[in-house]
Amino acid sequence: MSECCICKKCLGVTGDEGQGFDVAKIRQDFPILNRRIHQDKPLAYLDNAATTQKPSVVVCALCDYYQICNANVHRSLHLLADEATQHFEEARRRVVKFIHAHSEREVIYTRGTTESINLAAYSWGRRHIQAGDEIILTEMEHHSNLVPWQILAKERNAVLRFIPVLEDGTLDLEAYRRLLNPKVKLVGVVHISNVLGTVNPIQEIIADAHRAGALVLVDGAQSVPHMPIDVQALDCDFLAFSGHKMMAPTGVGVLYGKESVLEIMDPFMGGGEMINKVTLEGSTWADLPLKFEAGTPHISGAIGLGAAVNYLMGIGMEQVEKYEQELTHYALQKLTPIPGLKIYGRAPERSGAISFILDDVHPHDLAQFVDQAGVAIRAGHMCAQPLMRKLGVPAVSRASLYIYNLPCEIDQLVDAILEAKEYFSHGS
Ligand code: ALA
Repeated sequence: MSECCICKKCLGVTGDEGQGFDVAKIRQDFPILNRRIHQDKPLAYLDNAATTQKPSVVVCALCDYYQICNANVHRSLHLLADEATQHFEEARRRVVKFIHAHSEREVIYTRGTTESINLAAYSWGRRHIQAGDEIILTEMEHHSNLVPWQILAKERNAVLRFIPVLEDGTLDLEAYRRLLNPKVKLVGVVHISNVLGTVNPIQEIIADAHRAGALVLVDGAQSVPHMPIDVQALDCDFLAFSGHKMMAPTGVGVLYGKESVLEIMDPFMGGGEMINKVTLEGSTWADLPLKFEAGTPHISGAIGLGAAVNYLMGIGMEQVEKYEQELTHYALQKLTPIPGLKIYGRAPERSGAISFILDDVHPHDLAQFVDQAGVAIRAGHMCAQPLMRKLGVPAVSRASLYIYNLPCEIDQLVDAILEAKEYFSHGS
C-alpha cells in the first residue's frame, strides 16, 4: 500500500462502513497501485477511462485457465475442453446478470467496444440501411461510434445527422427531437462521454427514438464499468462495452443485442463456430450467440471478464457509482479554483472523466510534467476529433477515476498541476 491509502483524510472521505465499502481493502487487490515511480513517488493512476487496472482475482483467473484447464471451447470432448467451455459460458452468464440481459443469447463476445459497434454496423446496418435512410449520432461520439457508421453511410448512400453538444457539455435534446423522422433507422449515442464526462439521458433518448421507429445503439464503454446498467429497463437495442475498462483483460468485450434484433441480422465474420451446416455450396448459421462468434474466441479474456464482473458485483455497482460520484465531486472542487485551468464539461450529471487545459501549456507537456510527479493521466484528442474541433482545441489533458482512487491522489494531481503552472510560466 502507498502511504496515501491510510491517511486520515482518505479514510474519512471513503469510509462507508454501513455498506461495507472499504477502498483501502480494495486497493490491496491491485498490487500495481503500490508502485513508486520517478524517484520514489507514489503512483497515482488516473487514466482509468483509457484502461483500468486488474485485481488479483482477474489475474488469477487467467493463470488458472492457462495452468489448469487450457483447451479450446465448444469443440473437443475431453475433460479440459469441457471445463474450459463451462468457465467460458459461466462468464457469459455473469455478464447476462450484470447488465440484466434476458438470456445468454443476447450477449456476444467481441474484442471490445469498437468491434461490437462494427459488428452492429456491418451485420445490422448492411441488412437494414437503404439509400436515403438516416442515422443519428452525436457530436460527442468517440471515433468508434462514428467511423463505422460513416463507412456504412457511404456504402449505402445513407445520411448521418448529429445531435449538437451545448456549451455546458450536454446534448441539445430539442434539436434531437427535431432530427427524428420516419427516415431515421438508428440512433447511436454514447452513454458517458470519455471527454466531457457527461452522463447522457439515454432512457429518454431511447424512448424518443423508439417512438419515431428507430433502433438505438448505446456506447457503454465509459458507463458499464461505473454504474448499474439494466438493458431491459433501458430498452436499448444494442449496448457495446469493453472488458479492459472494467478490470478485465484487453481484447475482450461485449455486444448486447435484443434477441429479436440479433435474429434478423446476418453474421459478421464467417468461419468455424458460427455455422450449423456447411456444404461446398453454402452454409447455415449457428444459433445465437455463436452466429456472431466466428473462430476460436478470446477464451482467457472471457474468463477474466467473468472474474471482473464477479468482483464488481461483489462490491455492488451502486457502491461503485456512489463512491466515484463523491470522488468526482472532490476532484472538481479541487481543480476548479486553479487559476488558468479550464475544465471541459459542466453537465449536472457527470462522471469522473475530467478533461482540462492549463493556460497555454500543451496538454502533452502537462501530462508529461505530472507523470514526473507520479500521476498518470492521458493527453490528446481522446479519439474524439470532431468534439475537439467543437471545443476549439486540438487536445486536452484528462484525469479519469475509478473505485480504487483516493482523494490524496487527486491532491497529488492538483499539486503537480500547480507546479507545472509555476514551471511553464517562467517559459522554461
Ligand atoms: N477510449 C479510451 C479513452 O478515452 C481509449 O481513453
